[in-house]
Amino acid sequence: MIVVENLVKTFPGVGGAGTVEALRGIDLEIPTGEIFGIVGPSGSGKSTLLRCLNLLERPTSGRILLGGDDLSTLSGADLRSARRRIGTVFQQFNLLHSRTVLGNVEFPLEVAGVDRTQRRTRVRELLELVGLAGKESSYPSQLSGGQQQRVGIARALAAEPDVLLCDEATSALDPDTTDQVLDLVAEINRRLGVTVVVITHELGVLRRVCTSAARLESGHIVETGRISDLVADPGSMLGAAIVPVGDDPSAGPIADTALVTALGEDAHGPWLSDLIRTVDADVAVVGGRVERVGTTTVGRLRLRFGGAVDRDAVARFVGDRPHLTLSWGTDTDLEGLAG
Ligand SMILES: Nc1ncnc2c1ncn2[C@@H]1O[C@H](COP(=O)(O)OP(=O)(O)OP(=O)(O)O)[C@@H](O)[C@H]1O
Ligand SMILES: [Mg+2]
Repeated sequence: MIVVENLVKTFPGVGGAGTVEALRGIDLEIPTGEIFGIVGPSGSGKSTLLRCLNLLERPTSGRILLGGDDLSTLSGADLRSARRRIGTVFQQFNLLHSRTVLGNVEFPLEVAGVDRTQRRTRVRELLELVGLAGKESSYPSQLSGGQQQRVGIARALAAEPDVLLCDEATSALDPDTTDQVLDLVAEINRRLGVTVVVITHELGVLRRVCTSAARLESGHIVETGRISDLVADPGSMLGAAIVPVGDDPSAGPIADTALVTALGEDAHGPWLSDLIRTVDADVAVVGGRVERVGTTTVGRLRLRFGGAVDRDAVARFVGDRPHLTLSWGTDTDLEGLAG
């Protein structure tokens, strides 16, 4: 479990003019084994939060606990050994270009003083895990972007960390390669049980691998929760961004429309025809989307009822079905949600 308590980070302003408050009191709990996504507009503090988590920045105030140990006060040898509990994967891979794949992956083990035989055994395991067996002697320049990021992931895992941090780790990759690298991260999470924290501006990353997420704005967490709860909550901006209905502006005002979200089995079921029969009204679909979110399916439809529909009857219909949620005419502004 990672616990962040009232984390504040300020930087001196440019030319000594005042201070920049990058993080203004972050409280966050990330249970062990989650794949936790952090999104937010550019400058909202995502990278600063990550750099506090991997101990590259020291918090101005507040605490960071990993498995109960307070990381924010460590120094010297304790700080170095705490850093080994956290592996980081970078957007630009940050590989050493003069070293081979093997040399890159074993680097953190060399620094930690692990002997050569043990290092070589560990590197072979790691390269197997990330799908790069046989590439030991290649140099980074001889690898594709996706392969280089696999090396970055193997290196981050070398010291058997409890936590894997990814700062825009797939932003430099094309969509297919992104999906393959994300699937690898999910497999590592399942097989090794490491907690993963991913910073991203791509909502597809949240949809594909994250189990929970938080949204940052101006150094504050403004929304957090499990992905399945966020998408089921009609008032959640993050949920609306993860499965957007794609409202058609020419379909008229949405104030008098109903937004129905169906989760899991119900997303595939005949709930719409059941609803029409039950409330006995004409229905037009004015927006909608069905998305795979993690291992489940989420469907959202925006409906306009003809005539004077009995809203209570619609609410009762939805209320009787645990995997349906309803809201009337919410217009969520998704501009600038991700960075
Ligand atoms: N070393 C630093 N010195 C001064 N200000 C900084 C420093 N690092 C970050 N900041 C400021 O802190 C704020 C948050 O920056 P941060 O890099 O965490 O944002 P971000 O959410 O990662 O943005 P992006 O999506 O563009 O990567 C910004 O106003 C930034 O200018
Ligand atoms: Mg950043």
